[in-house]
Amino acid sequence: MSNYHIKHLEEYFKVYRKSVREPENFWGEIAEEHFVWRKHWDKVLSWDFKKPEIKWYEGAKLNITENCIDRHLFTNGDKTAILFEPNDPNEAAEHISYKELYQRVNQFANVLKDNGISKGDRVCIYLPMIPELAISLLACARIGAIHSVVFAGFSATALSTRINDSECKMVITSDGSFRGAKTIDLKGIVDEALESTPCVESVLVAKRINSNVNMKEGRDQWLQALLDKASTECAPEIMDAEDPLFILYTSGSTGKPKGMVHTTGGYMVYTAYTFKNVFNYRHNDVYWCTADIGWITGHSYIVYGPLANGATTVMFEGVPNYPDYGRFWEIVEKHKITQFYTAPTAIRALAKENLDHVDRYDLSSLKVIGSVGEPINEEAWHWYNDNVGKKNSPLVDTWWQTETGGIMLSPIPYVTPTIPTYATLPLPGVQPCLMDEKGNEIEGKQVDGRLCIKYPWPSIARTIWGDHQRYKDTYFSAYENLYFTGDGALRDTVGYYRITGRVDDVIIVSGHNLGTAPIEDAINEHPAVAESAIVGFPHDVKGNALYGYVTLKESGEGRDHDNLRKEINQIITEHIGPIAKLDKIQFTSGLPKTRSGKIMRRILRKIACNEIDNLGDISTLLNPEVVEEIINTKK
Ligand code: WTA
Repeated sequence: MSNYHIKHLEEYFKVYRKSVREPENFWGEIAEEHFVWRKHWDKVLSWDFKKPEIKWYEGAKLNITENCIDRHLFTNGDKTAILFEPNDPNEAAEHISYKELYQRVNQFANVLKDNGISKGDRVCIYLPMIPELAISLLACARIGAIHSVVFAGFSATALSTRINDSECKMVITSDGSFRGAKTIDLKGIVDEALESTPCVESVLVAKRINSNVNMKEGRDQWLQALLDKASTECAPEIMDAEDPLFILYTSGSTGKPKGMVHTTGGYMVYTAYTFKNVFNYRHNDVYWCTADIGWITGHSYIVYGPLANGATTVMFEGVPNYPDYGRFWEIVEKHKITQFYTAPTAIRALAKENLDHVDRYDLSSLKVIGSVGEPINEEAWHWYNDNVGKKNSPLVDTWWQTETGGIMLSPIPYVTPTIPTYATLPLPGVQPCLMDEKGNEIEGKQVDGRLCIKYPWPSIARTIWGDHQRYKDTYFSAYENLYFTGDGALRDTVGYYRITGRVDDVIIVSGHNLGTAPIEDAINEHPAVAESAIVGFPHDVKGNALYGYVTLKESGEGRDHDNLRKEINQIITEHIGPIAKLDKIQFTSGLPKTRSGKIMRRILRKIACNEIDNLGDISTLLNPEVVEEIINTKK
């Protein structure tokens, strides 16, 4: 038996060493002993980071839904697979057993087929956190369609860009969504997006808020009516291990979003294995990850990883402060949550409120608490560890990315001693290294550099949809033969890693990755704007907030700045979504540039962060005088 569940530190080191020395045996044994394959693989791994090309379990055949659903029916058919907690605490929670999940996924899969979707087709999913969201992912996987979930906070423009990029044939949405005290007209956003998406043939609409929506004849259909007529049996499409399972868009530092492509076999093995170990998962646990399925955390650690382990996974529709700041803890008490996984921005927001919101509830069911999405600062770490974990549920700070598919660096609870703000050690199979700017590996301890990975792991994204060259340029060109993460990290004296943040033009705001270029592109569409530059600056709840420097055209001069600020944020909301709104906007007569015309964001970032004492040498700039102006007019 392979050591699927690591229980002591010595065992971790032993397993880790094996995973590095004999990666193929290691991942071969895990895949063999814990999953259902319709055909065995011919080769565990073939790879070439230069091309780049990575294949895991080549030749193997499987369907991931057989692993996530069917195989649990015999032993755990009546166990709750998905526990849905609605936005409104007075609405009853819904327990969906594995048996019921099987039926609902199959019905949905049959509806997809009846509506012209088959293997390899792309289906865009734009839904709130309701059971239909998880079920629609699985229904696509059941028939081999490729799902592309777009977070239901993105705007119509952002949605249509993503639909067109991967040429989705169908969109699955709902009439609207509940978010705290608000309702959001999702169908209206979809209608607007679909004005410029010729590839979309049909739209399935789930009912959630019972609003009056416009249903376009010949294109839109109510989902429930179709499900009611569909059979609860749908044979799984047998897929190759390397067939795409899904596309998920992530922001890049330049231009349009990158459609990261994840494939089937390796993704399944890695998310299941890491779920088991990072959350110390046991059979009767009730696991809750507060992320939205619109992000990778929800894909891997609400849907696929937990279900592949036969777990009970909670889906929460609401927000942490509705009806009050105690909601998370009320849910922990109510469902006796054993593992709780959230983002630092949520922790910081909750830590600002009265402690009574936490102390009112019994959190004694918890045994592991987790963090993901951005560096967790020391204060938030301690607040979480003391008040939620009560100093006896290990806090796992998990570092990973949309591109990595699964958790890469993390303590293993009850195994790896934790240190505040450290993601600690690589999981088995992960070979991190630190590089300097010249391309040399930084060896030793107590050093910092750019975080790279030396060797493939099973859930690495295989390409960017429709743009393999960009995949190569972004991840495999900075350093020869290495995957470059875009993050900086330091390694301490015991070899623990601490992530220091992005080293590129991606800014993480409230846990959402935002590229500066798409925001600048949106602002520059304003008729009065000549040019703009976005940088991040520290914010005590969001982690980072956005600071925009904007220069106006002649036509914009003399216009009221407060009105312009509103209009600029409105344009950003339309192009990307409210998450990308700027906290501060400063109008300036110019932006500092190098002699080759490149905007010096480094200087702008320092000014935004009030670090004007060490701006470095600005004499080589094209327009050094502008720096002084910016400093003097900053509010
Ligand atoms: C950041 C989220 C510090 C990092 C799963 C990474 C983190 C980016 C952590 C990916 C962490 C994620 N500590 N930073 N524990 N987890 N990050 O694609 O900069 O939404 O590159 O995936 O978030 O964000 P993404």
